[in-house]
Order: sequence, then C-alpha cells, then structure tokens
Amino acid sequence: MGVFADALAAAMNPSCAGGNHAAIYVERQVIRWFRDMLGFPDSSMGLLVSGGSMATLTALAVARHVKSGVDVRAKGLRDAPAPFSFYMTSEGHTCARKAIELLGFGSESIRTIPTDDDYRMRVDALASAIAEDRARGVRPIAVVATAGTTNTGAIDDIEAVALLCRQHDIWLHVDAAYGGPAILTAEYGTRLRRAFAGADSVALDPHKWMFVPVEAGFVIVRDAGAMRATFSLVPPYIRSAGSPTGVYGLPWFSEYGFQQTRGFRALKVWMTIKHAGLGGLKSAIEENIALAGYLADRIRATPQLELIASGLSVVCFRYVGGGSAALQGPNEEDAVRVNRAILDRLQLGGDAFITSTELKGRFVLRACIVNYRSTREDVDLLIDAVLGIGAAV
Ligand SMILES: Cc1ncc(COP(=O)(O)O)c(C=O)c1O
Repeated sequence: MGVFADALAAAMNPSCAGGNHAAIYVERQVIRWFRDMLGFPDSSMGLLVSGGSMATLTALAVARHVKSGVDVRAKGLRDAPAPFSFYMTSEGHTCARKAIELLGFGSESIRTIPTDDDYRMRVDALASAIAEDRARGVRPIAVVATAGTTNTGAIDDIEAVALLCRQHDIWLHVDAAYGGPAILTAEYGTRLRRAFAGADSVALDPHKWMFVPVEAGFVIVRDAGAMRATFSLVPPYIRSAGSPTGVYGLPWFSEYGFQQTRGFRALKVWMTIKHAGLGGLKSAIEENIALAGYLADRIRATPQLELIASGLSVVCFRYVGGGSAALQGPNEEDAVRVNRAILDRLQLGGDAFITSTELKGRFVLRACIVNYRSTREDVDLLIDAVLGIGAAV
C-alpha cells in the first residue's frame, strides 16, 4: 500500500512546506496518530523527515536552541561561556555523532557512557559523567538514549535516564528509530510508553519497523514552541496565516524543520496505517519478535552456532564449528575469518540477507527481522545456509 501511495503522491506532487491543501492535513493526521501512540501531549509538534538521521539532527538542533544558554541563532556558539557536553553509549547510532558535529559542538563534546552486560547505558556511569562535567564547568546539553539499538535491539533504562536529565536540566532525546513501533506490542508497550513520557524528543522511523517504503522518518518534540523558535524564518514570499480557514493555512511545517519544499511523505504512512490498522502493524511486529525468538532458539539448539545477543527482532550470533572445534576458545582470528567469509558468501549468494557488527570487540553475524513477509521457513533456510557455508569454509 505504501508503494502505491508513493506513486499517487508523486503524481499529485504537492509541496508540504505548508499551505492550505489536502496533503498538509494528511501529514497533520499522521502526526496526531504518532503523538497519541507515543503518549505526547497536544502541545508537542511532529514532522515527517527523511529518516532517523534527519530526525536526530532536527531534535538536537532544538536541544541546542533551548539548552546552550546563548542566542545560538544570532551568535552561533562563539560567545558560549562554557564548553558543552553530550552523552551517549558506543551502542548509540552514529547519526547522533554526525548531528553533534554538524551542529558545531564537535565530537569531542561527546561523553561515551559505558554499557552493562546487556548493552544498555549504565545509568550510574552517566550520573558520574554529568557530575564530573558540572564540576569542571562543562554545560551538558543532551543525553541521547536508545529504545532499540541497531546492534542488539537493547532498550536503555530511559526512565532512570529521564530522572537524571530532569535533575540536571538536560535535554533527553530518545532514538527509537528502529524500536519505537514496538510500543504497539503487548510485551514492550508499557515500558516504551513510560520511556517516552520523560523524553523531550523522540525519533521513530516508519521506514524501518512500520514497513513503509523509504524515505519516511518521524521526529516529535514535546515543546512545539521551542521547535518553531529553532527553525521559523518567514520571509514575505511565504505567508503563514496560522488559520485553517485562510489561504495559507496553519503554521507551516517549514517553520518546524530545516526543509522548505517537502515531499508528500505522509501519504504512504497514512495509507499504510489505514490499510493495516495499528492492530495489523502490532501483529506484524509481534510476529517479527516471535520469529527472532525462534531464530535464537534454533541457534541455541545448534552446536555449531553461538548466540551472542538478542533483543526486539535482532539476533547476533556466530559460527563456531563443530562442538569442541578449533573456532571456540581463544582462536578469535579464525572465528573472524570464517564468519566474514560466511557473511560474504551469504550476501553474494542471495539466499538470505544478514549483516555483521562488532560486540565487545567480537565480530558477529547480525539478523534483524523487519519484514512482515518473513516466515519460519526463511529462518530455517538462513540456518541451513550458514551451516552449509560454515562447513565448506
Ligand atoms: C537506532 C537507529 N537510529 C538511527 C538510525 C538512522 O536512521 P536513518 O538511516 O533512517 O537515517 C538507524 C538506522 O539506520 C538506527 O538503527
């Protein structure tokens, strides 16, 4: 349905900078749906963007505007009285690092907070880092926590992080680009709703786990006024009447983000939700999670494979050969060589598509199931393919 919607949107070809036309109201509807889904208040504002990276850049630009303590729009950061700091873990997505660099803070302003055994931000370490920075006269701007890390699907203890952020007047951005839609599920719903309740901004990608064709990202900022104050610049050739009855309509989307002319991304999101319903998306996401559980079970039951980590619909594992084979134990170099070869042959062979990553310095194979058509047969095929290639290598 999203593919069909994209074709319709291309033919209609409106600019969603603003104005008083149908596409604007479709996007407003989508924003309201997401706002309700995430538990954000009416006073918040959302925006469809290209993806998680742009959502994070947008959110952190608002954080800079609100928390830097300088008139950043007029003077930039040149009059800043103190150095700034941001906090994230090594498991946080690099798009946050890119955004922080692009916003002029420099990557040296990032404090990398260690993770626990489950790849979640260590809140005690975060508290110490903030206290240390405060004592050194450094001004904390934002914590970037993650609800569903790319590597392992880990969900940080965001409630505890939010408490710290409130105590220290720090912006809390939650990267839920991948994991956010799990809020629809019975298993993760309550936890994620509580997590988002303390967030100043959230990024969530419909083009990941809501099965919408790329590009479709979403950002929401709790304080709509701050978002508008960060981006609004209305020249005479763009009139924004702020009225739903006038020619120019409600405040323009271009006042809430960097883009002026914007495509009609909303239609594919709107039609996907209308078609599947939030209930349909919930079932598909729960099925993906169950499938990841099945994959993890099959790995556990297969002596040649080792389960390294799993969370949401991500499963990380590696081939270790037969039982007491040479690949187990200290022979890390062989393990890397063999698993890399498996990944290359698997991808080039075309039977299954998984990726790789590094966890605590170890090279691992990584499956992330975000396709509503994936089945147990696909998982079985993946296991067979990995075992077949592993034995041959
Ligand atoms: C957790 C997380 N955050 C952010 C991103 C960046 O999103 P995008 O690629 O849509 O810009 C990704 C994935 O790519 C991700 O997995």
